[in-house]
Amino acid sequence: MKNSKIIGTGHYVPEQIVTNQDLEKIMDTTNEWIVERTGIQERRWFDPEKDTVANMATKASKKALKNAGLVAQDVDFIVFATITPDYFFPGSGVLLQRELGLQGIGALDIRNACSGFIYALSVADQFIKTGMYKTILVVGAEIQSSALDKSTEGRSSSVIFADGAGAAVLQATQEQKGILSTHLHADGDYAEELYVKDPGSSRKVRLSKELLDGATFNLTMNGNTVFKHAVVRFAEVIHEALAQNKMQKEDIDLLIPHQANLRISQFVQKQMNLPDEKVYNNIMHFGNTTAASIPIALSEACEKGKVKDNDLICLAAFGSGFTWASALIRW
Ligand code: UT7
Repeated sequence: MKNSKIIGTGHYVPEQIVTNQDLEKIMDTTNEWIVERTGIQERRWFDPEKDTVANMATKASKKALKNAGLVAQDVDFIVFATITPDYFFPGSGVLLQRELGLQGIGALDIRNACSGFIYALSVADQFIKTGMYKTILVVGAEIQSSALDKSTEGRSSSVIFADGAGAAVLQATQEQKGILSTHLHADGDYAEELYVKDPGSSRKVRLSKELLDGATFNLTMNGNTVFKHAVVRFAEVIHEALAQNKMQKEDIDLLIPHQANLRISQFVQKQMNLPDEKVYNNIMHFGNTTAASIPIALSEACEKGKVKDNDLICLAAFGSGFTWASALIRW
């Protein structure tokens, strides 16, 4: 059986930098609170005149393809992770496909929030391992800032979430390396702990003035519950990946956790007893970009030379659903 290997990564973030000081001007918050509770110093918010989920994904994908030494026409299939698609339907996968000029190839959308990129990677990995496709573009892209309540009422979420896109090119290889395993989990009991309620389909009227007044289109999060579950599930799913591959935590060369909150990453780092240089964080500059956070971090880590041939890379995520997931990769 073939293996699948990441042969190129790329990312794109909107130009507009929003600092904590900028947020102090629009809501009752402080730089100190945000840095202490989340580690975030600044984040990127999209420009409605310029950025869409699909065109940010296109920019990230083009970089990933260039880094892989491929052209768009080499791609056989697209797996696109986002919970903030440009349209209610169809998903953004087909929009990315169109922007890349790849009409005809399949495009699958994944809606697993912060775990979305690992779910997408897992699906792509299975398609390659079974021989169905040779080269798959795996993307995570989000525009969260337009669903945030930027008043003081929404401050515990709106200081965290942000926008951006990341991509990876996955290709079949005969080498004994690449994606070693992926592990996917979910617990729908907690679906409403972190969600955007509308536009839901199970209502008599999908859109009404009352609904708009109720602000059910904004992101709602019970941060404390999410935090408590995250720190347990992150460690659990990393251990699961290591056990499956008969490896120890000391074997990990670089852990790239979903950038949920720097405190969560640091908690996991402590649980796993990993030194600073073995954990990659960039939430300080990009905030929490949901499905885009892991591919952005992976792409940046590659650019900085922190991912080397034969390194053991562990990706791990937790988020809305609840969903959680990990991937262990021999680079
Ligand atoms: O991507 C995966 C999904 N998301 C996450 O992983 C997020 C997980 N959760 C978290 O990161 C944290 O729970 C938050 C950062 C969201 C909140 O931090 P916390 O330490 O859990 O704070 P809290 O919600 O318990 O609030 C503590 C206080 C409250 O004031 P009182 O009631 O103690 O007077 C809040 O009103 O902090 C207040 N607060 C703020 N103050 C200034 C909440 N947000 C802010 C803010 N600025 N932005």
